[in-house]
Amino acid sequence: MTRRSQSIVLIGMMGAGKSAVGLCLKSRTGFAQFDTDEIIRSKFRMSISDIFLAHGEEEFREAETEVLRKLSFARRAIIVTGGGIVSRKKNLDLLKQLGAVVWLEADEATLFKRAVQTGDRPLLQCKNPREAFSNTLRARLSLYAKIADIRVDTSALTDEEVAVAILSKFKKYRGKQAIEREQ
Ligand code: S3P
Repeated sequence: MTRRSQSIVLIGMMGAGKSAVGLCLKSRTGFAQFDTDEIIRSKFRMSISDIFLAHGEEEFREAETEVLRKLSFARRAIIVTGGGIVSRKKNLDLLKQLGAVVWLEADEATLFKRAVQTGDRPLLQCKNPREAFSNTLRARLSLYAKIADIRVDTSALTDEEVAVAILSKFKKYRGKQAIEREQ
């Protein structure tokens, strides 16, 4: 997190609840909210599934990096990201620069149950979505862990409860950062 940024950056696997929690945080803080998937959808004027089909995953990932770069102006914002944003190495630094990185975790079964509910996740539109989900999660866990400043387990919490937990941890985190800067 840069010295001037007070932003909260939500990361985590599909089904972690990032978008819903982002909205709760927006109304509790009054900060602006940016959602990388939403920005990309409006840029391409099509759904994420259609972007994957028409342009391929690589172009979608490139768009994610471009959005992170453009968001570097944000100082007091809630930034919601797509679950795969950590899969590009250069995004890890960009995410860290945007604000305090909050990893929304949950147990695998809960994440999968939530992720399949909407039926619109391109990475799960395959022969064995459960296995694809498991492999993808396994590949990403260490990346989420590496860049997270704050972790919240959302498995047994409502979106509002997650938002409250984040804000409490965020306050402590910012306090600690301020003390470290003074030393
Ligand atoms: C993706 C997660 C999605 C979206 C895209 C790719 C991923 O966002 O960015 O379908 O690779 O995990 P959510 O995490 O909001 O589902």
